[in-house]
Amino acid sequence: MPLPFPILTPEEAAALIQNGQTIGFSGFTPAGAAKAIPKAIAAQAIAEHEAGRPFQIGVLTGASTGPSLDGALAAAEAISFRTPYQSDPLLRAQINSGQVRFVDMHLSQLPQIVRYGFLGPIHFAVVEAADITAGGGIVLTTSVGASNTYLNCAQKILIELNRRHPPTLLGMHDIFEPKDPPTRDAIPIYTPSDRGGAAMVVVDPRKIAGIVETNLDDEAGGFDSSNTVTEKIGQNVAEFLVREMHSGRIPRQFLPLQSGVGNIANAVLAALGERREVPAFEMYTEVLQDSAIPLLKSGRCTFASTSALTLSPAMMKEFYTDLDYFRSRILLRPQEISNHPEIVRRLGIISMNTAIEVDLGGNVNSTHVMGRQMMNGIGGSGDFTRNAYVSIFSCPSVAKGGKISAIVPLCSHIDHNEHSVQIVITENGVADLRGKDPKERADLIIDKCAHPEYRDQLRTYLRLVKDGHVPQSLSLAFAMHRHYLTNNDMRNIEWESWR
Ligand code: COA
Repeated sequence: MPLPFPILTPEEAAALIQNGQTIGFSGFTPAGAAKAIPKAIAAQAIAEHEAGRPFQIGVLTGASTGPSLDGALAAAEAISFRTPYQSDPLLRAQINSGQVRFVDMHLSQLPQIVRYGFLGPIHFAVVEAADITAGGGIVLTTSVGASNTYLNCAQKILIELNRRHPPTLLGMHDIFEPKDPPTRDAIPIYTPSDRGGAAMVVVDPRKIAGIVETNLDDEAGGFDSSNTVTEKIGQNVAEFLVREMHSGRIPRQFLPLQSGVGNIANAVLAALGERREVPAFEMYTEVLQDSAIPLLKSGRCTFASTSALTLSPAMMKEFYTDLDYFRSRILLRPQEISNHPEIVRRLGIISMNTAIEVDLGGNVNSTHVMGRQMMNGIGGSGDFTRNAYVSIFSCPSVAKGGKISAIVPLCSHIDHNEHSVQIVITENGVADLRGKDPKERADLIIDKCAHPEYRDQLRTYLRLVKDGHVPQSLSLAFAMHRHYLTNNDMRNIEWESWR
C-alpha cells in the first residue's frame, strides 16, 4: 500500500524550511544523520544569499554529523546557531570566529532542554529512517540521538527514507522518553540489555510534511592507525582495570564500559579485548566504533547498548551481513537514556574518555584549546564521568611534537573538575587520584603522567607556589600556556620571569 505522505525531492523538502527556523536533525556522529535535505537546504541558502536575501537556520542534532549536514551548511554560511556538539573543521572555525553561536551541552540534557522549551520551538524535525508506517511509526537507522525528541516536539516532520538501511533494523532500537517533572518515573533499565521502550518512534502522521527517498552511506570516516603512544595508553588502561579487578575493587564479573570516540578509545578497547584476565564484558556507551565489532563477534564483548553505530562503510557491511547475530547483541537508545546519570550510576559504569589537557589538581579540559578555541564540545564525557563507578581520562602526555604539555599547572578551561576525575592515564603511566589530597594529586600526576621533558618544570612550579590547601599560584598558573603563545613551545620556561 503506498504511504499517505507526499514524496518530495530534497529541493522540495528544503523549500519548506524558512529563514530563521530551528531544525532538529537526526545524527549522532555521522551515524544516522540526515544527508540529502541538509545539502539541499545549503544549496537553497546559497541561492538566497546570491539573491541578496538572508537565510540561516538554527541547527540541533544528537551530536556531530558529517559533511552533508554540518559541512554543507557551514560552507553555505547557513548556520546561525548550533548545539550540542560538532566536529566539522569549517563549522569549528566559524564558531571560533564568532560567526556561529554555539552552545556546548551535556548530551543527556539536550532532549529535556528541548522538551522544556528552553531552546524555543522546533519548526521541523528532519530525520533519517529505515522504514515508516502509514500510522506514523518511524524505524530509525544507525543512531537514535535526539531524533525521538525532535520528532515528538517538532511542528512538522520531514523524513529521509534511506534504502541503504533495511526495514529489518526494526527491533534494534529501544525508544524510551522520560516524562517531565514533576511526574518523572524511574527508568526501567537494570542491565545494559534491558528494554524499557518501543521499537519505533510513533508520531502524529498529520505532522509528516513529506518523505525524501535516498540511498546513502553514513559518512563515518576511518581513524588513524594506532601508534605506539595510543597503544601504550590502551595497555595502561587495560592493566589498570585488571589490577582493580584483582584487588576486588571491580567485581569479578566486571562492570559495563563506556568508551569515548577516536583512536585512543579504539586502542583501549583493543587492549581490553586482548587481556584474557578481563572476563567477557558489556558496554553501555554512546558511540560504538569499528573496534567493538570484532569484540562482539568473538564474544569478548557480550552486549553493547549505544546511541550510535559509528562504523566505517566496510564494517557496516559486516554488520548487515551478520544482522541476525548482532540483533541480540546491540541496542540503540536515545542519548537521553544512553547517557542518563541515573543509569550510569546504577549500572556502575567504567567511563573512559579523552582529555585535551589535565592539570595538577586533576581537573580536565576536553573542549577548548588554550582556553579559547572550541574543539568539538563536551559531548557525553560529563554525563558519564560525573556518575561513573570509576572515571578515567587518558591522553598523550604531549601534543604538537612535544611543544605542548597535556599536563599543566591549571587547565585553561575546565569541563570535568577534580571532584569527578578519578584516574588519569597517559602513555607514561597511571595516576590514581582517589582518596588523594591536592598535593598528593599534583605529585602523582607529575610522576606518573607528565612527559619526562616536562617533569622538572612542573616540579619547579610546585616548589614556587605558596602554602594552601591547593598548590596553586595565581600568577604562574597559566605561565606555560602564555609561554607557548609567545614562543610556540611550553618547554624551558623561566618561572621567575613570570612571577
Ligand atoms: N593543546 C593544543 N592542542 C592539543 C592539545 C593541547 N593540550 N591536545 C591535543 N591537541 C590537538 C592535537 O594536536 C590534535 O590536533 P590536530 O588535529 O591538528 O592534529 C587535536 O587536538 C586532537 O587531538 P588527538 O590527540 O588526535 O585527540 P582525539 O582525536 O582523541 O580528540 C578530544 C581528543 C578531547 C578533542 C576528543 O576526545 C573530544 O572531542 N572529547 C570531548 C567529547 C567526548 O569526550 N565525548 C564523550 C565520548 S564520545
